[in-house]
Amino acid sequence: TMTWVDAAAVDDVPADDVVGIEVQGRDIALYGTEDGIHATDNICTHGHARLCDGFLEGHEIECPLHQGRFDVRTGKAMCAPLTEDLRSYPVKIEGGRVFLAFE
Ligand code: FES
Repeated sequence: TMTWVDAAAVDDVPADDVVGIEVQGRDIALYGTEDGIHATDNICTHGHARLCDGFLEGHEIECPLHQGRFDVRTGKAMCAPLTEDLRSYPVKIEGGRVFLAFE
């Protein structure tokens, strides 16, 4: 079953940038993009790097360690050296808060 979890204030998510937060013991990256807020796991699937230390360009986050890129809308791995997609979370905005769907 899926549970909506209150993760952050909308105002805490920077425009055109990424922020790392902890939600119920999970390390999550929130992205402020032109079509809204997206959420994925914050740890790269290739190595131990935090994507919130990377570089967001449009809908792609570039890992700070080896420059792998993920689509933040789906978590899809876009280029080498990545072989594994990133987990992404459904997002809803309510009352100025960002909610993520956790299983
Ligand atoms: Fe992210 Fe290698 S740790 S691309």
